[in-house]
Amino acid sequence: MDIFFDNFIKNGKHLRWVSINKTNPFAFTMDNHFWHDKINIKLINKVKKFILTKKEYNIKHNEFIDQTKNDTYWISNNIFKEENKEIKILKKEIKKILNNFFKQINLKLNEKIYIQGWPSILKKNQFHKEHFHEAHEFSFLSGNIILTNNKTTTDYYIYPRSCQFGYYKHKNFSGSITLFSSFIPHKVDTIKDKFRMSIGFNLYTQKSIDYFNETIENQIPLSPIRFVVEL
Ligand SMILES: [Fe+2]
Repeated sequence: MDIFFDNFIKNGKHLRWVSINKTNPFAFTMDNHFWHDKINIKLINKVKKFILTKKEYNIKHNEFIDQTKNDTYWISNNIFKEENKEIKILKKEIKKILNNFFKQINLKLNEKIYIQGWPSILKKNQFHKEHFHEAHEFSFLSGNIILTNNKTTTDYYIYPRSCQFGYYKHKNFSGSITLFSSFIPHKVDTIKDKFRMSIGFNLYTQKSIDYFNETIENQIPLSPIRFVVEL
């Protein structure tokens, strides 16, 4: 038996681990969404080039921020705020992919979507420890876009099945984009290559933003939702 055995639905680019019917008050419920897609490689290379022009993201410069030693790096950055042609095109691509996803699952939101994202950079022998992005009433979708070709996987923890059957491992390749429910824990194991670069991001709905603002006293002040721009 493996992780794909039960409560698993696959339809093209959409993968979902879901419990459909709760037969008693104590029954376990889950709903984990994934959408795997691709972005044009020419655009990916241009985005990579643009990011590397910034000293803080280029490992060859002393000003390089070592993300593995900075816990708040991913929260307060937003690469999608950049007034750069390629970043603007990338935003449009993400929007297009998101709309295809919603169309397939017949979801009509009719509200604005917001994005916050950060270049995610690993050097040789570094790794991304297991983490999740948002697990709140307002959490929505997160994602990653791979910018370099490395033999790595992003490993997702499907609670509680991964506990017995292992992670859901998705192979990384340049141009791949994955959208997933923001609460799903994930990790990237130690890299053997010199350099691995991706963009991590969070998406929020207008309702997410409103809810966060209305309940601000109960929220963590340093939260990625505060750094969003409209998608
Ligand atoms: Fe992440």
